[in-house]
Order: sequence, then C-alpha cells, then structure tokens
Amino acid sequence: MIICRTKAEMREAVRGWKRAGETVGVVPTMGYLHEGHLGLVRMARQKADRVVATIFVNPTQFGPNEDLTTYPRDEARDLALLEAEGTDAVFLPNVEEMYGAGGDTFVEVPGLSAILQGALRPGHFRGVSTVVTKLFNIVTPDFAVFGEKDYQQLTLIRQMVRDLDMPLEIVPHKTVREADGLAMSSRNVRLTAEHRAEAVQLSRSLTVAEELAKSAPAISALEAAVRQSLAEAPSGKVESVDIRDAETLEELSGMLDRPAVVLLAVRFGTVLLIDQRVIAPAD
Ligand code: PAJ
Repeated sequence: MIICRTKAEMREAVRGWKRAGETVGVVPTMGYLHEGHLGLVRMARQKADRVVATIFVNPTQFGPNEDLTTYPRDEARDLALLEAEGTDAVFLPNVEEMYGAGGDTFVEVPGLSAILQGALRPGHFRGVSTVVTKLFNIVTPDFAVFGEKDYQQLTLIRQMVRDLDMPLEIVPHKTVREADGLAMSSRNVRLTAEHRAEAVQLSRSLTVAEELAKSAPAISALEAAVRQSLAEAPSGKVESVDIRDAETLEELSGMLDRPAVVLLAVRFGTVLLIDQRVIAPAD
C-alpha cells in the first residue's frame, strides 16, 4: 500500500496505473475508520482495479463551534485497516499541503447547501464540495463511493458532478449498521450506555416509516408516526424529522406519491446522531 502525503506523490501513483489501463476508485474519508467506511472501501475494491482512500480532516467544513480540534484521529490504526482491505494507496495530506497559502476559490451548490443540515451549519457544505472537488482533481478517479448515511452530502456531490460535468461516476453505498440497527458512526462511542440503548430507536422509527409508506399515507401522518416512535427514546432530543423528495430533497406535501427520504437528527447529551431511509409507496 502506497502512502502519499503530497499531491505530487498521489498524482504519480495514479499516472502509472492509468498508463497501464487500470481503473481507479476513490473513497474520501476523514479517518478514524469503522465498518461503515470499510464497506465503501470493499465496494470500491470490487469495482476498480485500483482503490485509493483519502484521509483528511477538512477544516473548512467545520464551523467555529464544531469539534475540529477534538475530531478523533488514529492514523496507524486506519492504515492497518485499509491495508487489510487491499487498498492500493492512501492520500493523507496535511492542511498546509491541501490548502497552502491560497484557499480563495470555492465550489458551492447553493440550493442543496442551504437547506436541512446546511441551514444549521452555515458554510459546511461549501467546505465539503470544495474539498471533494480538490480530491477528485488530485486523484482523477473513474468513480467515487459515498455513504447514504450522509444523504444530503451524497445528493449534493451528485448534483455538483452533474452540473460541472466532472468525468467520474458517484457510487452510493447503503448505510452500514450495528447488529441492533444503529447506523455506524465514530460518534457512537461517545454515547453513554443508557443513550446507546435508546439510540436504536432512530432506525426503529425509520422502519415504522417504511412500513407505513406502503399504504401511501399523508406526509404529515408519516412525520407524526416517526415522532411518536422516537418518543420511545426519552433521553433523545429530536432536532429534526424531514421527509423530502429522495432525489432533489425538495419539500413534499399531501400524500406520499413518490420515493421520499426520511432524515432524522436526534441529540443524546452532546452527541448528535443522524440517520435516514428511502421509503416509497407500494406499486
Ligand atoms: P466521513 O464522515 O469520514 O465519511 C466518509 C464516508 O463514509 C462518507 O461517504 C460517509 O457517508 C460514509 N459513511 C460514514 N458512516 C457510514 C455508515 N454507517 N454507512 C455507510 N457509509 C458511511 O463524509 C465525510 O467524511 C467528509 O464530509 C468527506 C466526504 C470526506 C469530505 O471531507
């Protein structure tokens, strides 16, 4: 496994593979890897001749009051996990290498970056779309794998690639879950035992929505059913329940008549958990 700390080293590795006619898949991450990230790496491994993982805790997507300095890091462990998955190269730049003295240019998807999580975290998605563009330009992959766990991020990257004719495919990966259904996240370890037990209610409430969706209910009834189910986790503070068009994230009203995504954000103590599921009426 090649470890590239500079853009030049990364470009050099990819150049050699491309000359040999090999395809390249990339999995962008911020490190502190868990089974969710590794699922994306395995998917890339199946689809491409060469797999690149990137590890970069991107400062421009953190707000002033967010956890940039406390974001967990464990480079040695991450590298061992990636090596075990047969990753060909890891791109691990530092902030100076990534942004240098410049950093004046950005990429923004104004509509999708301003709604939902973007409304709560101004500047977050602009940081994401800019760093992902840079990673695509450095690695020049044939495809990139993103998790459905961060559904708004996935939707925004897809639109960016489409709008700017970026020459790669975006491959979605299902949310990887713990045995009881809790979506895997590096934040889960910060939950107390009591909160961890209640956190299972996020995925349960999504299952309630999935079942109810089959009968094409009113959107308002779906939301009420999800909130009622989340009430079974009394320590959880429900920050948002949104039911949106699964493709555009536009608001829906009336009856459920197309695929929709249910997006949840629930806070347990200081830990904000998110989860999502695409639901649709039965044909
Ligand atoms: P990070 O939070 O490290 O996530 C990296 C990728 O792993 C994302 O595509 C995310 O959706 C996916 N992922 C995380 N948990 C998952 C789970 N339980 N199941 C499936 N996929 C999961 O997302 C970022 O980093 C950054 O914003 C990044 C895209 C790297 C840009 O800085």
